Amino acid sequence: MLLALSVLLLIFPATLSAPVRDGCTTGKNKLLLISFDGFRWDYDRDVDTPNLDKMAEEGVKAAYVTPPFLTITSPTHFTLLSGRYIENHGVIHNNWFNTSTQEKKQYYMTQFVDEYWDNGSLPIWITAQRQGKKTGSLHFPGTAATYQNETIQVKEVEPRFYDHTDETEWFKDQDLDFVTLYFGDPDSTGHKYGPDSPERREAVKKVDRTVGYIRETAEKHGLSDYLNIIITADHGMSTVFKGEDVKEIILNDIPGFSLKDLKFHMVDYGPFGLLLPKEGMLDKVYEALKGGHPNLHVYKKEDMPARLHYSKHPRILPIVLYADPGYVINGFYVFQTNKGEHGYDNEVMDMKPFFRAVGPDFHRNLFVGPFETVNVYPLMCHLLGIKPEINDGSLDNTRHMLISDGESCDSGDVRESSLQNVFNGLAAAAGFLLLVFVVVTSYNGYKRCKITPKAKDIGDEHEMKADSKQTSF
Ligand SMILES: *[C@@H]1O[C@H](CO)[C@@H](O)[C@H](O)[C@H]1NC(C)=O
Ligand SMILES: *[C@@H]1O[C@H](CO)[C@@H](O)[C@H](O)[C@H]1NC(C)=O
Ligand SMILES: *[C@@H]1O[C@H](CO)[C@@H](O)[C@H](O)[C@H]1NC(C)=O
Ligand SMILES: [Zn+2]
Repeated sequence: MLLALSVLLLIFPATLSAPVRDGCTTGKNKLLLISFDGFRWDYDRDVDTPNLDKMAEEGVKAAYVTPPFLTITSPTHFTLLSGRYIENHGVIHNNWFNTSTQEKKQYYMTQFVDEYWDNGSLPIWITAQRQGKKTGSLHFPGTAATYQNETIQVKEVEPRFYDHTDETEWFKDQDLDFVTLYFGDPDSTGHKYGPDSPERREAVKKVDRTVGYIRETAEKHGLSDYLNIIITADHGMSTVFKGEDVKEIILNDIPGFSLKDLKFHMVDYGPFGLLLPKEGMLDKVYEALKGGHPNLHVYKKEDMPARLHYSKHPRILPIVLYADPGYVINGFYVFQTNKGEHGYDNEVMDMKPFFRAVGPDFHRNLFVGPFETVNVYPLMCHLLGIKPEINDGSLDNTRHMLISDGESCDSGDVRESSLQNVFNGLAAAAGFLLLVFVVVTSYNGYKRCKITPKAKDIGDEHEMKADSKQTSF
C-alpha cells in the first residue's frame, strides 16, 4: 500500500479583485513550500503528470536542482530552510549521536532534540515570524524544534507512525503568510521498490494528483492570484546493485581494518558513514580503509572535497566515508535490503531533486537551468518580503524566474501601497482564512521501516531494539 495524501487549502477571501501581475508585488503574497521527499528530477519522464505539466505551463520549471551533500532528508531540508550548506548549519545527519555515551537517536527522535537543530542558523519560519509574518508547518523536518526560544506558530509534527485515515482539518481560521508541507513519498516507495519500479511510478502519480488538488482548491477559492507555490524535494534516489557479482562494501572484511580501533561509528546507514577512531588510531584506520574497496571513498574530515561543503562542522567525525552510486556501506555484514538509496555525492544526477514554482510573482511557462538548493532560501525571503539571515545562496541565481526580476520593492510605490491597503482592509473585515485539509486515503503506516534490522548494528544492540527505524531517508 502506498501513501496517498491529498492536501487541500482554502486560504482567504475570494472577494479580492485581480492583483497586478507585473511589477513589484513581492512581499504581498502568501507562500507555500511543499517538499515531496525523494522526488528525483526526472520522475515525471516515465509517468503521466498532467498536473505538474500544467503547473510548468503556468509557472517555472527547473531542469533540476542540486542538493547539498550529505544528500539525506534532515540535512538537506534544513538547507532549504536556512540557505546554508550542511557544514554551516550543523544538521549533519538524520540521526543525533553522542560519541562519548554511544547514544544514538534515529530520525524521528532527533526531531525533538532542540540543540541539534538550533545550532546557530535560524530556519525561515522563525526569521519570518520575527519580521511580522505568520507561519505554519505540517510534518516538515525541523518543525518540532525550538529555535532561540521560538517555535513555529502553527505546527503539526509528523506522528511517528503516520497512519491517519481520517480527514484532518488544519490551519482553520489562521491568517498565515508562509506554510511548509512535507510528504514522505515518493521516498519511501523509492527505497522499498527502487526508483525504476512500477510502485515508484504509481507514487509519482499520487504526487501529481496531490499537486492538482492543491492548485484546484486554491483556484476555486480565488487564492491563486495571491499565493506563490514552490514544490521541490530534498534529494533523489538511485538503484542499489544486487546480485552475486556485486562486491559489497563490508568494512570488517577490509584487510588491516578493525572495528576495535573505533571509539564510535555511524555506518549501516545507506551509502554514507562517519567514524571516530580511538586515540592514536586515526592514521591506521584511514590507511586501512583508503583503497580498501574500489567503490568506497575515504576521507579525513579536513580533506573532504571543498565542493561538498561537508568538512568544517565540529559534529562531523574525523573520518568520512561515502560510496559510489549503487553501493551501500556495511559494518559487519550485509543487512541493508533497500532497493533504492540516496546519500551519494550531490554531483550524481540520481541525487538531484525537481523544482517547480507558480504564482503571481513567477513568470509563466519558463524553463530554467539547474541551481543549488541553497538558493531557495533567499528566493523565499524575497517572496515574503523579509530580510534574510546570513546564508550561502543568492537571489542572483533565481531572480530570472521572477516577474519583477527580484528588484527590491520600494515602499513608496503607490500601486503597491494601495494593494496593501486593500489587503489590510479585507484582513480586518473578514480575516484571512487558511484551511488545510489533509486527507490520507491510504497509508502504509510504517513507511519508515525501510531497513529491516535483521542483524544488529555493529555493537549497538540496544539502539536497534529500541528503534527499528534505521533508515536513510
Ligand atoms: C555527550 O555526553 C557527555 C557525557 O554525558 C556530555 O558531557 C556531552 O555534553 C554530550 N554531548 C552532546 C553533543 O550531547
Ligand atoms: C553547534 O554544535 C556544536 C557541537 O555540537 C557546539 O559545539 C556549538 O556550540 C553549537 N553552536 C551553536 C551556535 O549552537
Ligand atoms: C532563552 O530563554 C532562556 C530562559 O528564559 C534565557 O536564559 C535565554 O537567554 C534565552 N535565549 C535566547 C536566545 O533568547
Ligand atoms: Zn528524504
